[in-house]
Amino acid sequence: MEKIKKLLSERKIKSRVKKLAQAISIDYQEKNLLLVCILKGAVVFLSDLLREITIPFDIDFVGLASYGSHTKTTGTVRLTKDLETDIKDRGVLIIEDIVDTGLTLDYLVKKLKEREPASLRICTLLNKPSRRQVKIRLDYIGFKIPNKFVVGYGMDYAGKYRNLPFVGHLPQSAR
Ligand code: IMP
Ligand code: MG
Repeated sequence: MEKIKKLLSERKIKSRVKKLAQAISIDYQEKNLLLVCILKGAVVFLSDLLREITIPFDIDFVGLASYGSHTKTTGTVRLTKDLETDIKDRGVLIIEDIVDTGLTLDYLVKKLKEREPASLRICTLLNKPSRRQVKIRLDYIGFKIPNKFVVGYGMDYAGKYRNLPFVGHLPQSAR
C-alpha cells in the first residue's frame, strides 16, 4: 500500500464531482436523463455524482470486458451485461471511470447509438489522452491525468484497491 502515490485527494475529487453534477443538472433539465454506469470501476464515481444531481434521473448499468492483461487493452471489447432500460428517446449519459485508448467507449457508443437515444454523451472522471487510439468526444471530464496506471476511487488492479478514497498511482514495481 505504501507503494501507492496519491494523485488526487478526496477533497479535490469531491469538489470536482460536485461541479460536474451541477453542470449535468443544468444541461439535462427536461431531457429525461438516464445515467449509464460502466461496471465496475465507475460505481464509486456514480454514487458520489448522483447524490449531487438535483434533477430527476434513472440509472442503469452495463458490463464491458476487454481481453488482455490487467494493465493493457488488446482492443477486443465485449458486452458482459446489457442494460435493462429501453434508451430510445432518452437523454443518455455514460458514466465512466477512466478513458485510456478509448476502445471501450467507442464500442459502447456504437452499440447504444443503434437504439436511438435522444442524445448520447459521456462523463468520465479521468481522461488519459496520451494513449488514445480512437477519436472520442468526452462531454464532461473530471481530470486529465498523465500516462500512469491509477487505482482507487473504484478503480482496481486485479480486483484490488477499489476501496481507496483517493486516486493513486500504482507503480510498475507493485504490479
Ligand atoms: P480503454 O478502452 O483503453 O479506454 O480503457 C478503458 C478501461 O480500462 C477503463 O474503463 C478501465 O477499466 C481500464 N483502465 C484504463 N486505464 C486504467 C488505469 O490507469 N487504472 C485502472 N483501470 C484502467
Ligand atoms: Mg472501466
